[in-house]
Amino acid sequence: MDFFEVVHKRRTIRDFENKQIKDEDIKKIIEAGFCAPTNDHMRDWNFIVIKDKKTVITLLDIVPKGISEEDMSNLIRDWNLNDNEQQACYRDAVPKQYRMLADASVIIIPLFKQKTKILSADNLSQLNGFASIWCCIENIFLAATAMNYGCNLRIPLGNEDEWSKKILGYPDEYMMPCFIGIGQAQKDAVTVRQKTIDIDERIHWNSWI
Ligand SMILES: Cc1cc2nc3c(=O)[nH]c(=O)nc-3n(C[C@H](O)[C@H](O)[C@H](O)COP(=O)(O)O)c2cc1C
Repeated sequence: MDFFEVVHKRRTIRDFENKQIKDEDIKKIIEAGFCAPTNDHMRDWNFIVIKDKKTVITLLDIVPKGISEEDMSNLIRDWNLNDNEQQACYRDAVPKQYRMLADASVIIIPLFKQKTKILSADNLSQLNGFASIWCCIENIFLAATAMNYGCNLRIPLGNEDEWSKKILGYPDEYMMPCFIGIGQAQKDAVTVRQKTIDIDERIHWNSWI
């Protein structure tokens, strides 16, 4: 698949077929992750690859399994989701947070080393490790897409990261930026309409004005 075809084809997939994924495919996808740029040249990343359904169920025990219509409306109001397409995205995504990971063929937990307190960083460079792992995650998504898999991610909320650390046993010095789910997209998997961007309005040649 041509690079630009992959970039345009990558969409968040939350509806999966019940299918296995080969370990060699997972390795190839993670290898692509390791090709991403990295702040300190070390690529000090690790990945926990979870295929065992018992572990998946335990890991996801803390993730909400759905949302009532009332709570969804409150969330849209409280999070100031004023755009119609944005609302459509959340209305599809929020109820699927558990299922999109539970039904994935594999859950991958990327881990990076955070040397300072991430939520009280003094400057941007203290967030370089966090920025680098996100470059890696995008490579993972593009590689999965190029191999005709669908993927999604969830940011750990509340104490989901502490819970994950307890279940998966990774060392204290590592942080998980997200859960990643990868699998075979259902034929009728929802892809929420992306915002249409007028590129000429967004590019400011030489200066903003
Ligand atoms: C930093 C970041 C956080 C995100 N958090 C979540 C999340 O917690 N749950 C989820 O289902 N999708 C999450 N997403 C996926 C977005 O909802 C999705 O990328 C966006 O709606 C655009 O849709 P597309 O990926 O199909 O282009 C996140 C994406 C990013 C980049």
